[in-house]
Amino acid sequence: MQRIRKAVIPAAGFGTRFLPATKATPKEMLPIVDKPTIQYIVEEALASGIEEILIISGHAKRAIEDHFDSAPALEMELEKKGKNELLKMVQETAAIKIHYIRQQQMRGLGDAILCARAFMQDEPFAVLLGDDVVYNGDGKPALQQLIDVYNETGSSVLGCQTVPEDKVSSYGIVKGEPTDNKRMLRVLDMVEKPSVEDAPSRMAVLGRYVITPAIFDILAHTLPGKGNEIQLTDALQVLAKRQSVYAYDFEGIRYDLGDKLGFLKATVEFALRREDLGRPFQIYLKRLVANL
Ligand code: G1P
Repeated sequence: MQRIRKAVIPAAGFGTRFLPATKATPKEMLPIVDKPTIQYIVEEALASGIEEILIISGHAKRAIEDHFDSAPALEMELEKKGKNELLKMVQETAAIKIHYIRQQQMRGLGDAILCARAFMQDEPFAVLLGDDVVYNGDGKPALQQLIDVYNETGSSVLGCQTVPEDKVSSYGIVKGEPTDNKRMLRVLDMVEKPSVEDAPSRMAVLGRYVITPAIFDILAHTLPGKGNEIQLTDALQVLAKRQSVYAYDFEGIRYDLGDKLGFLKATVEFALRREDLGRPFQIYLKRLVANL
């Protein structure tokens, strides 16, 4: 069985929900406290054993490439001023090996993943969506949990969690049958962003996938679906009819950065967890709440 060595991170979208911030700045560069959201995603991939990352980039996304590039002038300045910790941080970000390809037309998530075909060279691979940041403390990163299931089953695995009923229309929803592992379902069917009435369950795919390369042929023949976009969910549904696909209820707190309230929650909670900021921020919040 092949190891999961490669990951793709789609990052070509316009980020319209965060305008005007995303007019000239990629939404993936918006920070949670002081780190761009895409760096949290890249760090999760590396912590899960991924060796090569492909970012699907697009128009006005150059800041992402600059972020993971070396910055000689900045490094010299930090060195001169003896800011060694910052220097190390800047150098470490540049040491991460990332590849880029541009999606020329915004034709949907499925089309973005199809752009990764040549890079994956017939290997099973991981997908991490930038809108979903997962915090799991000292536990295993979300992607690592999925890779562990892949290593046991050799099958595609979708990272899922149960969402409230009024949220099913925001996600790919899975219909599954139980397996011996209570965190795991075998996928029978999937539907992209169903209405509450049409949703087969409340089990939502939340931005982490391990997928076998058979998906590429399917994607190449997938017609536009929901929102007139080529949907990864539609291709996965076909894959699940041809080979086993599992939904895994991963451990961890997942933040929906595609949503402004979700972004604010992530900002507050990540700040509270910080050694340097947590305590004073907590005191500030308590006072603020007391005066509401
Ligand atoms: C995408 C997928 C959807 C998935 C979601 C997770 O939707 O199409 O199936 O549940 O990500 O965040 P998007 O939020 O990009 O519209």
